[in-house]
Amino acid sequence: MTSIDVFTLFPSWFDWFAEQRHVRNASALGLELRAIDLRETTPLRAGQVDDTPYGGGAGMVIRVDVVEAALRERYGEDAAQVRGRRRVIALAAGGRQFDDALADELAEGGDLTLLCGRYEGFDERVHEHLASDVVSIGPYVLSGGELAAMVVCDAVIRKLPGALGDEESAVEESFSPALGGAPEYPHYTRPVEWRGHRVPDVLLSGNHAEIGAWRRARSAERGERRGP
Ligand code: ADE
Repeated sequence: MTSIDVFTLFPSWFDWFAEQRHVRNASALGLELRAIDLRETTPLRAGQVDDTPYGGGAGMVIRVDVVEAALRERYGEDAAQVRGRRRVIALAAGGRQFDDALADELAEGGDLTLLCGRYEGFDERVHEHLASDVVSIGPYVLSGGELAAMVVCDAVIRKLPGALGDEESAVEESFSPALGGAPEYPHYTRPVEWRGHRVPDVLLSGNHAEIGAWRRARSAERGERRGP
């Protein structure tokens, strides 16, 4: 993947994110992360992007024609065609749960577009006709998709080759295939004893086979405790 475009009403939120080390590393290696303001291309007057929901109810809904105009302007083609070329992910609390497998899929796949909703989210036709996926970062409601988009970007970008200082560190970690999808084993560092709590002896043994077996066992144990 070489490009992530984030469509949002708060592009400046991503300035901070873009400055973080792994994102800068990935950018130096060719990743282009861009935050695009939905208001800049809105076809409505006075920067309007949302409207009241048909059928009544609280809150406002981001209009489909606003998202359409932003995609058309950015990609120079019919907005409904964009998802045929690059993954277009709308962030919404009710979407498919984001997980490590999806992060892998996105990191290994092509360019990415993230659509951040606000208020009550998007008009359903954004999900149906402009997005390729609707993704949630968890069963709770955020005030918008921006933090969710950052979570997705963070989890994906750290998997890109060269984003982390140490190439190995994204391989054997929580939920990775290397650990059978289980959470990661516990880590310890100095001091070897703290308030009477010692680091497990096996980790000090220098026996890599035993250390490996101990780690896999702890990881599996944590996976069982967590449940499916
Ligand atoms: N927008 C509001 N809540 C969200 C969530 N949990 N995940 C993704 N986008 C959201």
